[in-house]
Amino acid sequence: MMRLTIRRPDDWHVHLRDGAALADVLRHTAARFARAIVMPNLAPPVTTSAAAAAYRARILAALPPGATFEPLMTLYLTDRTTPAEIDRARAGGIIHGCKLYPAGATTHSDAGVTDIRRLDDTLARMAETGLPLQVHGEVTDAGVDVFDREARFIDTVLAPLVDRVPALRVVFEHITTREAVEFVRGAHEGVAATITPHHLALSRNALFAGGLRPHLYCLPILKTEPDRRALLEAAVSGHPRYFLGTDSAPHARHAKESACGCAGIYSAHAGIELYAEAFEAAGALPRLEAFASHHGADFYRLPRNSGTITLVKSPWTVPAGYPFGEHVLVPWRAGETLAWRLANEPQGGVAA
Ligand code: NCD
Ligand code: ZN
Repeated sequence: MMRLTIRRPDDWHVHLRDGAALADVLRHTAARFARAIVMPNLAPPVTTSAAAAAYRARILAALPPGATFEPLMTLYLTDRTTPAEIDRARAGGIIHGCKLYPAGATTHSDAGVTDIRRLDDTLARMAETGLPLQVHGEVTDAGVDVFDREARFIDTVLAPLVDRVPALRVVFEHITTREAVEFVRGAHEGVAATITPHHLALSRNALFAGGLRPHLYCLPILKTEPDRRALLEAAVSGHPRYFLGTDSAPHARHAKESACGCAGIYSAHAGIELYAEAFEAAGALPRLEAFASHHGADFYRLPRNSGTITLVKSPWTVPAGYPFGEHVLVPWRAGETLAWRLANEPQGGVAA
């Protein structure tokens, strides 16, 4: 049986949610990843160091017995985030970035930033203290086609921002377009990007294959096949400023299968296996370790992990559902076969 042992990876972008659902999704992330950048888009959002410390304590309390996992906390930027809040974040030592949600761009982004230019003092303090900015890169103007919102954001918001505050370290999160790949490649070395497993595997046709597929609806939305190929090329290129971030974003089944369904794809149940599949399909399995376990740690100026994980090529069927607090969530690839599995992981599906 084919086996692949790599340095233990990290997930540089994940939604762990809160309350009863937290433990249900956290166990998947913690089984694979040593650390994860935890998104702050709770309701209400995590806007202060005090709120982040409390959320971190809830995450640690929800870990399965014996798990070793470190949540890397983030702050949710609002129009009112002050330089003093950045100083508190730096002093506390548990915050690893501030997340820019353009107001109205995605799930729980209503309290996000209306005009990033108003936050230049706060961004300058982040640059001074080396705290990275994590960017949801989409314009929110309803007049802009949903498939163009990332490319438009680069031209109208991100490129000007990177020029205005050149010392700011920026992670362009979950990039989905050829334009974003090229922007990061051409930017200075303080600009990096995360790439999700679903944007590596799927183009927008998948949303409509045989009917409407609500479980493949996420933001930024899936793009064209040439975009997908550009993302895959970037991921397997070995370039150090592209790295793993699943953007695993669980929602209860009823919130997805709805007349107005939520955006978000759940992938934590196979958070490294799905990348192994994509890299293998591209003939680039030997490049997986750097993408998953080296580049992100190096960019975030954290030590690489010391342990390893082992993947075995042994097909398994993804369960129809997983528990999600008092509800059920439908994971990406539910009912389908995955080629790779994590050695030694118990399965835990439920009927959906
Ligand atoms: C995320 C969520 O559900 O929190 N949804 C998504 O489609 N990715 C929010 C986000 O990261 O945009
Ligand atoms: Zn996200």
